[in-house]
Amino acid sequence: MESFLIKGGRPLRGEVTISGSKNAALPIMAATLLTEEPCVLRGIPELSDTRFMAQILKSLGADVKFEGGTLAVRAKKIRGYADYDLVRKMRGSICVAGPLLARLHKARISLPGGCVIGARPINLHLKGFESLGAKIEIEGGYVHAQTKRLIGATTFLGGRQGSTVLGTANVMMAAALAEGVTVIESAACEPEVVDLAHFLNSMGARISGAGSPTITVEGVDKLHGAEHVIIPDRIETATFAIAAAATNGEVTIKNCRPDHLRAVLDKLTEAGASLQQRGGTLTVRRGRKLMAADVTTLPYSGYPTDAQAQMMALLTLAPGISIITERIFESRFMHVSELARLGADIEIEGPSAIVKGGRPLSGAPVMASDLRASAALVIAGLAAGGQTQVNRIYHLDRGYEKMDEKLRKLGAKIQRVEEK
Ligand code: EPZ
Repeated sequence: MESFLIKGGRPLRGEVTISGSKNAALPIMAATLLTEEPCVLRGIPELSDTRFMAQILKSLGADVKFEGGTLAVRAKKIRGYADYDLVRKMRGSICVAGPLLARLHKARISLPGGCVIGARPINLHLKGFESLGAKIEIEGGYVHAQTKRLIGATTFLGGRQGSTVLGTANVMMAAALAEGVTVIESAACEPEVVDLAHFLNSMGARISGAGSPTITVEGVDKLHGAEHVIIPDRIETATFAIAAAATNGEVTIKNCRPDHLRAVLDKLTEAGASLQQRGGTLTVRRGRKLMAADVTTLPYSGYPTDAQAQMMALLTLAPGISIITERIFESRFMHVSELARLGADIEIEGPSAIVKGGRPLSGAPVMASDLRASAALVIAGLAAGGQTQVNRIYHLDRGYEKMDEKLRKLGAKIQRVEEK
């Protein structure tokens, strides 16, 4: 397994270009199953998750060519079975369910199972499919969904933690080919849902209201092929912005959408960072000095759960008490014990982590546990004095394209090595 070896204490300086959004790319890749015509997707980040989704499309029968960030897919003839071995390795693959149901009127998808950050149920996805007339059976760890035809309906996708991003994507894709009008109430408002709606509409779908809690889908008989450029990754943008502040550097972030991460930029400003925005370019400096700040993760446009761990790494450096409350997932504090190994003083109290910040961090070997926790450990290692070895960085490679290369270009001393 590979690790990152980081010599910390150096400010990040220079320019970085943001890659396409992983969380926009995955459902949009699944949406190519909705037509038998060719689709071309550009700006697809080269990640283990996107390579995996390409494999899943192939396993369903599609012709797939993925190189240099461009994905050409033609799902002429497909089968409606996504194997456990494939789905369990990447939860995001659940978003092939909607397209398979819409195209084949049947789907046999493995239940994705949980992951380190939570149980990750799909009850709201299935509720949406049932609203459209699908018969759902769970048997042998698989979801068997079947229908004579999908009929438009009104469905409510709000759960205990708010809406569901991939559930909204799944139901929107199924509704695109249903008979009649579907109204998704309490829909997720994330920019990735909006990007999917844009792609579906370019295929001939009739979707309005994406980005708001009420999405209306007028079903059509067929969808045609289309081309699309994936939006920049707002979480990668947040990660580099936070790293700039954490290392007391100055980083200009290009090809980003600051309007997609207003909550993160607002929190960074509160914590003492100074930001300058010019269109799709954002320059981040630490500014005067870091200050403690409280963070609560919420559905969009609230503070994103996917940038919670990274902000915690920064706040360990800010003198004072910062309270970070995780409202979306039940166990998204795996990075806390690893940050403590670098000298951070953090106590978990139920859904909150109480960060007593201000002491400098010092390097140590740490273990990545999930995608965004790994990013937090890299940020902390860059800010810490001495050497930090971040182990199991395969977690990081799932969601960050060439992160070590991008950091080296910003002056970081970071090497990818075989774990000893
Ligand atoms: C998407 O996951 C993202 N993944 C996640 O990013 C992100 O953290 C999450 O949205 C929330 O923003 C992709 O887009 C591939 P949810 P998703 O359904 O759609 C509960 C990353 O780091 N829930 O919005 O699977 C669920 O347990 C990843 O890039 C139900 O109760 O998340 C959670 O508490 C991690 N029933 C909350 O809703 C359901 O049927 C939000 O989950 C579905 C979800």
